[in-house]
Amino acid sequence: MPLIDIGDLTLNVDMPSKQSALYSAIQEKILSGKWPTKAKLPSSRLLAQELALSRNTVTAVYDQLKAEGYIESRRGAGFFIQLLNPESYLLTQPMQPLNAAPSAETKPAFDVKLRNRPFATGVPDLAQFPYRKWARTLQCHADRMILSGQNDIQGSVNLRSALSEYLSMSRSVDAPSHRIIITLGAQQALYIAMNAVLEQDDKVMMENPGYVQMRKVLNRCGATLSYLPFSADSGVDISVLGGFEGKVVYLTPSNQYPMGCSIDTNSRMKCIDWAVRKNRWLIEDDYDSEFQFANRPYPSLQGLAAKFYGAKANVIYIGTFSKTLLPALRVGYMVVPESLVDTCLSIKDAIGGDTPIHVEEALAEFIANGDYLRHIRRMRHLYQGKHRFFVEQLREQLGDRIEVLSQEAGLHVTFRWQGGSDAATVKRMLEAQGITIRTLDYYCDPDTVDGMEQWVHRTLVAGFGNSSLEDISRGIHALAKCLYMQTS
Ligand SMILES: Cc1ncc(COP(=O)(O)O)c(C=O)c1O
Repeated sequence: MPLIDIGDLTLNVDMPSKQSALYSAIQEKILSGKWPTKAKLPSSRLLAQELALSRNTVTAVYDQLKAEGYIESRRGAGFFIQLLNPESYLLTQPMQPLNAAPSAETKPAFDVKLRNRPFATGVPDLAQFPYRKWARTLQCHADRMILSGQNDIQGSVNLRSALSEYLSMSRSVDAPSHRIIITLGAQQALYIAMNAVLEQDDKVMMENPGYVQMRKVLNRCGATLSYLPFSADSGVDISVLGGFEGKVVYLTPSNQYPMGCSIDTNSRMKCIDWAVRKNRWLIEDDYDSEFQFANRPYPSLQGLAAKFYGAKANVIYIGTFSKTLLPALRVGYMVVPESLVDTCLSIKDAIGGDTPIHVEEALAEFIANGDYLRHIRRMRHLYQGKHRFFVEQLREQLGDRIEVLSQEAGLHVTFRWQGGSDAATVKRMLEAQGITIRTLDYYCDPDTVDGMEQWVHRTLVAGFGNSSLEDISRGIHALAKCLYMQTS
């Protein structure tokens, strides 16, 4: 049963008495539905205290509202908004014209189940998260008063130290803690990075197909976008960099999103040379490199750049806990060159981007005591099994009609087929069967889609992170039926 918060209840000073002012203020809240049916009213003592009224005034108003059927009293429990108040049938809101655009309230709500169900991309196995251990760790920090006020905009120093060690050990990132900034997921880091280095109309290059969320940031920054070409045979083509006079190149070099290929060391060096020679920027989004199944992951591009060019290396490294732990934690991080620390912090400060310190402290402990690495190892093993099963099922149920394009890594499989129905049709059919899948053209700039090769429209991207083996088998069975149905 909801409790009513006195909130912004204010008395109209022009009313003849405080009693009538209080009566109309409460009546308006009830009639407009802002104080909902069945909700419990504040006690007369509390209301009197908050509004600096005498308790008798409040009691008299409550009695009047009760007599008129707006509220009811329950012995020993207090006053409640009546289930059927006398004017609930009256029109208190102007009627919307029939053809009016739907208001925010009538728009369909974001469907959480749809977003996390089998084959949805970017979702780790939600059932495997060590909830109990996490809750215990979080609990140890939740009541630390020292953390409860204002905190360092850069994020917890303990988390930055723990990350510094982890990133240099596992990804060869050059990451002293004073150059790490904790962010609200990688998304905030992308936003800060771009705002730190870009000016209006600056040119940026990114992959196409590529990370849609990044395109949103770049559009907001007013950047002029161009694209690194992609070929299914040779991956991201960085040869165009030679003629690119823009300011920034954004890459997902260890597991290109969503094509799932990586950029080799030779090409990484070419990108780094371009940035240093022209004094430009590289943004390395290293969102899921913990999950490489066939080979050891390439060391980070940022670490390679630091090794060869030291402080001259212009790479911003971005990572996240969204894949290794949970997207809902909303914790990511960026490692920036010394020259950019203050600018990035002032942007983070300006957008009110303070990060959740209790969660950060719990994460720091999780990393420092080895729980984080243990969890990653366990999940790598689990995802490797799911990936293998996914690809086996594709082969078993669809044979050589399907070609898997993505490497053995990450949390999704990208695959294409020739002839028959296009990806958009298959996606719609699968959706009706409870499967959320993405078409490859979703990841392409809409202005470029028409000119792309035909196979792009017969390619799907399926997440397997939050799918059980049964989901995978059932999903691929449904996929096979859709494809055969359309071509037979
Ligand atoms: C390419 C890429 N970068 C970063 C992220 C992580 O974003 P966040 O940390 O904001 O959840 C994702 C998530 O799907 C991604 O696909």
